Amino acid sequence: MDFKELAAKRYSVRKFLDKPVDKEKLDLILAAAQNAPTAHNRQPQRILVIDQAAGLAKVDIVTRCRFGAPLVFMICYDKTEVSIRKYDQENSGWVDASIVTTQMMFQAEDIGLGTTWVMHFDPAKVREQFQLPEQLFPVAFLPTGYPAADAAPSELHFQRHPLDKLVYYGSIAQYP
Ligand SMILES: Cc1cc2nc3c(=O)[nH]c(=O)nc-3n(C[C@H](O)[C@H](O)[C@H](O)COP(=O)(O)O)c2cc1C
Repeated sequence: MDFKELAAKRYSVRKFLDKPVDKEKLDLILAAAQNAPTAHNRQPQRILVIDQAAGLAKVDIVTRCRFGAPLVFMICYDKTEVSIRKYDQENSGWVDASIVTTQMMFQAEDIGLGTTWVMHFDPAKVREQFQLPEQLFPVAFLPTGYPAADAAPSELHFQRHPLDKLVYYGSIAQYP
């Protein structure tokens, strides 16, 4: 499968089989997280692998979006390790962690696993439940597993803006 097919095939899986993810597949996803580009190569991503009952129960406390997945990644960035842009002090944490999560998502898809990116959680609750050190900021949960036989894309998956709303050639001064 080439990238075009992979990207077209991926959708947010919200129903999983009750089947653990094999170690080789977990390792491939973590390698994709490691290979991701980050600003100035600072590599601020920190990833918690949650696949034991106690941890999954905590995920269920902080979000309703686990969808029964047997494995959940929590992707954080370390605030002390990010790159800071000198012009406006913007930091690269969200962007770095998002690229990492995206690579993990596509690697999972490539090996027959499904994922859904989850942002719907209260970071303060996550901090409390997982005893997150202050310097770590949680960006995403990524429930991961084998899609259930009747897993299917949501309606939103098919609602894509036309390219002429998204893309501007040469000038965007007249937006919108
Ligand atoms: C940054 C981000 C946050 C998201 N948060 C959630 C979430 O909390 N819960 C959820 O069910 N889906 C979440 N999604 C999935 C989107 O709803 C989904 O990607 C979008 O509707 C397009 O559908 P598709 O992924 O099936 O193509 C999130 C996706 C992104 C990129």
